[in-house]
Order: sequence, then structure tokens, then C-alpha cells
Amino acid sequence: MNVLVVGNGAREHAMVQAVMRSEKVEKVFVAPGNGGTALMGGKVCNVSLKATDPEGLFRFAEEHQVELTIVGPEQPLELGIVDLFRSAGKKITGPTKAAARLESSKAFAKEFMMRYGIPTAGYHVFHDVLSANNHIENSPAATFPKVIKASGLCAGKGVFIALDREEALQANNDLFEERIFGDAADEVIVEDFLKGQEASVFVLTDGTRYRLFLPAQDHKRIGDGDTGKNTGGMGAYSPAPMVTEEVMRKVEERIIRPTLRGMTEDGSPYTGFLYVGLMIDNGEPSVVEYNARLGDPETQVVLPLLKSDFITALEACFNEKLSEVPFEMHEGKSASTVVIASGGYPDHYETGKVVSIASDMDSLEQCMVFHAGTSYENGSLLTAGGRVFSVTALGDTLRESIDRAYQAVGKISFEGAYYRKDIGAKAL
Ligand code: AMP
Ligand code: GLY
Repeated sequence: MNVLVVGNGAREHAMVQAVMRSEKVEKVFVAPGNGGTALMGGKVCNVSLKATDPEGLFRFAEEHQVELTIVGPEQPLELGIVDLFRSAGKKITGPTKAAARLESSKAFAKEFMMRYGIPTAGYHVFHDVLSANNHIENSPAATFPKVIKASGLCAGKGVFIALDREEALQANNDLFEERIFGDAADEVIVEDFLKGQEASVFVLTDGTRYRLFLPAQDHKRIGDGDTGKNTGGMGAYSPAPMVTEEVMRKVEERIIRPTLRGMTEDGSPYTGFLYVGLMIDNGEPSVVEYNARLGDPETQVVLPLLKSDFITALEACFNEKLSEVPFEMHEGKSASTVVIASGGYPDHYETGKVVSIASDMDSLEQCMVFHAGTSYENGSLLTAGGRVFSVTALGDTLRESIDRAYQAVGKISFEGAYYRKDIGAKAL
């Protein structure tokens, strides 16, 4: 079959790799893809269509006999790509525009969780700066830190942790008055600060049945020891030991099942990948956020750990067979991924730097170099984004996977390359 993967990051590169492991696949189109998917060659072909062009992607899928489309990022979901494909009877993995509101509107997600008793931080929603400031002025000092969030999509960057009133008022100002996230902050959530350990759980669902990938942990801050600004994610590992079997049981019982049931009851059944961002405090999980997709960089550890056929599982979502197909992980294996970013990320950074990868990279065992922001032009590999690579390795232990990943990172160089040195250290 022909498959179309939508997106251009390391997540999509990892998806293409997982798709390619399936014997069922004849050709994989990636729109728009990156330097890494361009270099795969053979059955893999980049298509110069933007992820934010659902109509163009639909026409392409029709013209090229694409039987299954897999959506990586959230923007096309919010634009209704799944609704469009489905209305023409074309298979696509992901939630409808209405169901994707679990990610695209934090106000919707919070209200939904409250209504279905799904554990999450207490919150208030505001539509103007005066009432938001009023709320902050009237909040006792002991209720800080508070978390202030734009309701709409901000590429993971629309969240402020305000330690006191002054910082909270500043955040209100940045969101409502300076409009640093534009319309995404027409609604603003002020929520209670949750303490504990963060982890992410990934679900594949047809709306009723679901299967679980292994839990993972991201590293969102730019600096070692979780310091500095929030980023799209600087590294990840899986499985995440704080998500014990007991915690996972609670997550299924209190979060995943009520979420799927609630969405169906509300008339927008949730299909595709569901990312549940968790805070776990003393073994009690609550939801920090939902995403309507797989995580980046978490996908780069979660998919390499999937042993059974990815395409078989995705197809099973369309014929009520999801509970019957194999969905197995590599037993006893761990995976780690280290993101190599452009110097200056997540603020200003330069692109167009020539990348060199040592020729003995291929000799490293169980390592995979996923490209995030690269382009391949006239025989040269160039940097083309903030996050440039996500270097993954598998191992029999977490330690082994981390050591291998860093060994591979050492073989990649470009001017200004930056990466965290402590990925996975928390779990050791
Ligand atoms: P979000 O985009 O909602 O995932 O938020 C980004 C990051 O902000 C999360 O990964 C957490 O590290 C942090 N965060 C968000 N909400 C809370 C909360 N209520 N309590 C503590 N930390 C939070
Ligand atoms: N790794 C965080 C995200 O994908 O949103």
C-alpha cells in the first residue's frame, strides 16, 4: 500500500521508519518531510506540500492512490484534515477537528475533564485582562505558584509558571495586551500548580478500543538540570519508571477510559493518537494536558520500541479489530533520544549551517539518527530549524541506551550545535 505521512520533524522521520518496517508498504510519501526523509530514498519520497494544506494533501492522496494517511503535527488536525479525508471515505489516522479540541482549546479540555471527573489542576478561564488581573490580585500569596496558559495552540510555548502576583500580572499582560501568542490567547487559563514528576502516555484508539505504547518522559527545558526556557522538547526516554503498573492502572481507569467515553457521549468520538501529559504525585496521576497526536521527541523513543507491525495496528482502527491485532513492545529494552539544536534555540538561531556526520556512524549498534530541522540541497545537508536532530539509541538498560545515544551525538557536528548532557539522568 501507499502511505502518506504529514509533517516535517523528527517525529515524522521516526513514523516513516516505523511504517517502512511493514511488509505491506510499497511507497511512503512524506509531506513535506526533511533532509533525513529525503536521504532515505528507495520507497520514501518527499512531497513539497505543507502540513497546513489539507486540500492539497487530499488531492495528492487521491492522485497517488494513498491508502492510509498518518498525521504528525497538530495544526492540520485543527484545520480539519481528518474531517476532509473521511468525508471522501479515505483512511486517515487522527482525530476530527471537533475531537482535536482536546489539544487546540485548553479551555475546552479543562471543562471536559471537570465534567467527567478526570483528575486535573483546578482552574479559571478569562477573556480579558481586567478580570484576569482581578483574579490574581485577589489570590492569596499561598496559592502561588500559578500556571497561566494561552488556551489555543502555541507550539508548547504558551505556558507561564508565575511564582508570585507580579509574575502572574506580567503573564496576563504578555498574553492579553502584548498579544505575544495572538488569537491563541483570546482565552487564558489560570490554573493551580501541580507538583510531582511529569510523564507522557500515548494511546492509539478507534474511539472505543485502545492500545497503549510504553510511557515516556520528555525534557522540556533548554538547560541541564531542567533550567532555562521551555522548548519543544530536548530529549526523551522510555519506558519511564515512575509510571509503574499501579500508576498505569490508575491512568487507564481514571483518565483514558473516561476520556474516550466522554468524547463519545459528547458526540465527538476521539480517534487516532492521544497524548496524555501527566503529573504524578505520590503515585497519583493527574492530567497536565492532552495532545491530539504523538509527542516530539517522545515518538522517537516510543516507536522504535514497538515490535509489532505499526501499519497493522493503524489499519485495525478502521475495522473494529484494534483489540485483536498484535501490539507488542520490545521486552526489556529501553530507548533514549537526545535532541541536537541550533545555538540560540528556543530564541533566535541561525540556519543553513553545513552538517557533517562521521562516516563510522553506521557502525554504531541500535542507533537511529532522526532529522528534525534539516534540508538536503545540492548534495549538502544543512540545518533548517531550531531542533535539528533527534538521536535515538536502544539498549538492554536505560543506561546503555543513553550512553549509545551520546556516542552517536558525538559523531554529528555543525556550527553552534547544542544539546543537553543529562537526558535520562533523572531516571538512573
Ligand atoms: P502544557 O503546554 O500545558 O503541557 O504545559 C507545558 C509545561 O508547563 C508542562 O509540561 C509542565 O511542565 C508545565 N505545566 C503546565 N501546567 C502545569 C501545572 N498545572 N502545574 C505544574 N506545571 C505545569
Ligand atoms: N514533547 C512535547 C510535545 O510533543 O508536545
